[in-house]
Amino acid sequence: MPADDHAPRVAVAFHSGFGHTAALAESVADGARAAGAAVHIVVLDALTDRDWHTLDEADAIVFGTPTYMGNVSAAFQAFAERTGRRCQEGTWRDKLAAGFTNSGAKSGDKVAALMSLAVFAAQHHMHWVSLGLVAGWNSSAGSADDLNRLGFFLGAGAQTDVDAGPDGVHPSDARTCRHLGERIARVAAQFAAGRRVTSAASSPAAASAPVH
Ligand SMILES: Cc1cc2nc3c(=O)[nH]c(=O)nc-3n(C[C@H](O)[C@H](O)[C@H](O)COP(=O)(O)O)c2cc1C
Repeated sequence: MPADDHAPRVAVAFHSGFGHTAALAESVADGARAAGAAVHIVVLDALTDRDWHTLDEADAIVFGTPTYMGNVSAAFQAFAERTGRRCQEGTWRDKLAAGFTNSGAKSGDKVAALMSLAVFAAQHHMHWVSLGLVAGWNSSAGSADDLNRLGFFLGAGAQTDVDAGPDGVHPSDARTCRHLGERIARVAAQFAAGRRVTSAASSPAAASAPVH
């Protein structure tokens, strides 16, 4: 589906130390594009002024991080801490947010990283969009090729062998991340359509700000 005038603007903002999370970010972006979004990729450890502008203008931001020491990476957290002023000023208020992470172990405590991303989004008064898939690979008929093979709900959880390169990302995880991209693009389009027909449509930053 081509992007149009009402195409939601989706930013895929991630850090990746060894390229695994970067490969998954491409899958998220592909899915969002396929669902009609205008997509920008933002590499969080090489942020430019244009990148900050992209984040500020986005309707939705999908945050991606590897799981390091059972949480988001230090580079992701450094980015998060640079957003304090935006947090105070509500710059990202009422944007949509979603998240994905990748770890070396099948679990690797990566749900904690997804929880950190969701809390980060909540601190910015954003609306968290879940993965929206049933758990795969959870019955005798299932397999590692199932969509959402690791059974996440909060966001997309992926696993890549620590000795593999970026092309070692599991195809099921890539498809799961693609699904997340499609889903956030669709929900962003629904939000934008709703805002066009409500009085709160003036700007994302003002849409549900408290009245002082
Ligand atoms: C400092 C560090 C900490 C890590 N901590 C975890 C962890 O807590 N759980 C886990 O399963 N894998 C852990 N890993 C493995 C990475 O999550 C894994 O290699 C991942 O694919 C890296 O993604 P990236 O290439 O996007 O950086 C860690 C790796 C590093 C370098």
